[in-house]
Amino acid sequence: MSLRQFIASRKLLRSLNMLKENVELKWKEVAELFGLHEDVFENPRHIRLKKPVTVILIGAGHRGNIYAAYALENPDELKIISVADSNAKRLSRIKSLHHMEDKFCFSNWQDVFKQPKFADAVIIATPDNLHTQPCIAALDAGYDVLLEKPIAPTEEECRLILKKAESCDQIVGICHVLRYSPYFRELKEVIDAGLIGNIISIQHMEPIEQVHMSHSYVRGKWKNSKETTPILLAKSSHDTDIIRWLVNSSAKDVHCFGNLKWFTNANAPEGSTERCTDGCKVEKSCPYSALQIYLRDKKRLYVFDMPEKKSEWDDHILEQLKTTDYGRCVYRMDNDQPDHLTVNMLFENGVTAAFSMEAHVSYEGRRTRIMGSKGDIFGNMETFIMNDFQTKKQTSWKMKTDAHGGGDHRLIKDWVQAVAQQDKSLLSSSIEVSIESHLMAFAAEKSRLNRTIEEVKVFHDQQV
Ligand SMILES: NC(=O)c1ccc[n+]([C@@H]2O[C@H](COP(=O)([O-])OP(=O)(O)OC[C@H]3O[C@@H](n4cnc5c(N)ncnc54)[C@H](O)[C@@H]3O)[C@@H](O)[C@H]2O)c1
Repeated sequence: MSLRQFIASRKLLRSLNMLKENVELKWKEVAELFGLHEDVFENPRHIRLKKPVTVILIGAGHRGNIYAAYALENPDELKIISVADSNAKRLSRIKSLHHMEDKFCFSNWQDVFKQPKFADAVIIATPDNLHTQPCIAALDAGYDVLLEKPIAPTEEECRLILKKAESCDQIVGICHVLRYSPYFRELKEVIDAGLIGNIISIQHMEPIEQVHMSHSYVRGKWKNSKETTPILLAKSSHDTDIIRWLVNSSAKDVHCFGNLKWFTNANAPEGSTERCTDGCKVEKSCPYSALQIYLRDKKRLYVFDMPEKKSEWDDHILEQLKTTDYGRCVYRMDNDQPDHLTVNMLFENGVTAAFSMEAHVSYEGRRTRIMGSKGDIFGNMETFIMNDFQTKKQTSWKMKTDAHGGGDHRLIKDWVQAVAQQDKSLLSSSIEVSIESHLMAFAAEKSRLNRTIEEVKVFHDQQV
């Protein structure tokens, strides 16, 4: 064998070896390798229910329908027996899907609580600024609650709900559904097993994706922080919650920079009009054309209460674009949510975390880097790569990502069990643990507005 052939064969061998080491495993194989739980969602404390938990759905919009779908798929666990929504179409849709009697259908949440208690629990999926009153009323009436996040638009209201929940000892679950996604469950399992030693620091990114940003936070329901909640609450409280959960320590100080840089009047292109339907000269070349997103691509139509017949869709969408905010030019809105921000966090245990929320990206799916004393991990919602500093071994695994989808239903499964067994410890996201993410977000927003470093006061003696 010539020297050249010898070197070539060594190279080949080395690359084969590398390939072998770089084989992407499945979670089951990683779990076997390190002695971890094969099924990160299995809970031996779950029991077969003798009868389904009965629920009143308050708010039958996008989120309410997701939770109601769980009841249809799992009638032995959950039964939606009543609904309240001010939108007649949504009310009647849920009523017929769940075969409800007229007397259990209400056109506003207040009417629910004029009746004596008639169900086990209440799901509250109304807009952000309509969480506190129905939640307090539900607790006063003796119901357990599943409350959409954000808990409430202000710190005072969040603390009020917490105080109420603690004083009456009822279950209040918060819909921090990411705790129920395979991505974060597996990450948590690996960290808690000590595979990368002690966590030293975290970098976490939440790419919103530009069209999603325009849909929800420029044109959509959360476009104005004063009318709803700051984006740090509305979107990123999922991330402050996850980071706090992984670090396993309370946040001490936070600092935030961020602003609205692009979706402003100053950036409206020449020839653009108030609405995309007004004969805008740049509509065809605009990445935010409402005609393209909603009418031609038929994306994100869940906000339009679409007619049953597909033949009526185009007319209905056009009408919506002419009359609602979804047809308005993204540069001519009354929006104020930042389209980029960074938050630095210092935790009680000395861990630091850097979080960034980005709107100007073509992709979704959180990116997470965890730096530990014995190794590090990089995850992108689809794959994980874990390096061991001492052995130099790299383990990588691919996961079945289901982002929210699976998380939504796994959360409600745990909540149903918690209600049925009257045991809040069955919930990963009860208000008692979820509130910290909100306090972090409020402090970060304060820091962003005031250019300060803010202390996160998890417990304070201020009476509310
Ligand atoms: N957990 C998550 O990941 C997640 C994701 C998106 C939204 N959310 C939160 O879920 C909540 C609901 O959001 P959505 O997107 O479903 O909104 P939505 O607008 O689709 O639904 C809200 C519903 O509440 C109804 N409503 C309004 N006023 C009412 C009243 N007085 N009485 C009864 N019903 C009333 C509306 O008619 C609407 O159908 C919000 O707080 C939102 O921030 C959470």
